[in-house]
Amino acid sequence: MTRKEAFDSIKANVENENLVKHMLATEAIMQALARRFGEDEEEWGLTGLLHDIDVELTEGDMSSHSKLGADLARELGASEAMAHSILCHNPAHGIPQETKLDKPLFCVDPLTGLIIAAALVRPGKKLAGLEAKSVKKRFKEKSFAAGADREQISRCSQIGLELDQFIELGLEAMKGIAADLGL
Ligand SMILES: [Fe+2]
Repeated sequence: MTRKEAFDSIKANVENENLVKHMLATEAIMQALARRFGEDEEEWGLTGLLHDIDVELTEGDMSSHSKLGADLARELGASEAMAHSILCHNPAHGIPQETKLDKPLFCVDPLTGLIIAAALVRPGKKLAGLEAKSVKKRFKEKSFAAGADREQISRCSQIGLELDQFIELGLEAMKGIAADLGL
């Protein structure tokens, strides 16, 4: 699957622009992690890009969310490793995140929301000028962007990153596509 094929499929299945931006942010951070760990940037990036492709199709049914997504990804030509990572990023299935591609997607997913929320409360609502230490401060405020599961973000420890390192890497990756994110 080419990146274009993946993105075309997203455009065909997802109307909500914020959801598309969330997937773009996830792609960017997954690519940055692959770069850092010497893994396959394309494979990791596409996994991040596609991970929520079924959110609108499954209409909030958490028992089917990510099962359909994994199937759609397979149809597009995703590897089993990619499909498994997508499948188990939804904790509702009770499938543990075990592989080297499962674990990063799981902790990256909620980090994007925390960083976007931290940017949106700044004057100008931009990523530019947002510092990792401010995001870390927001991380500690439990009521701030409460949907961004802190425990899940903290699983970055399972891929060998301290929280500070993870936030810094994620923030830099998202700044790199700030225009696409409208931030
Ligand atoms: Fe997601």
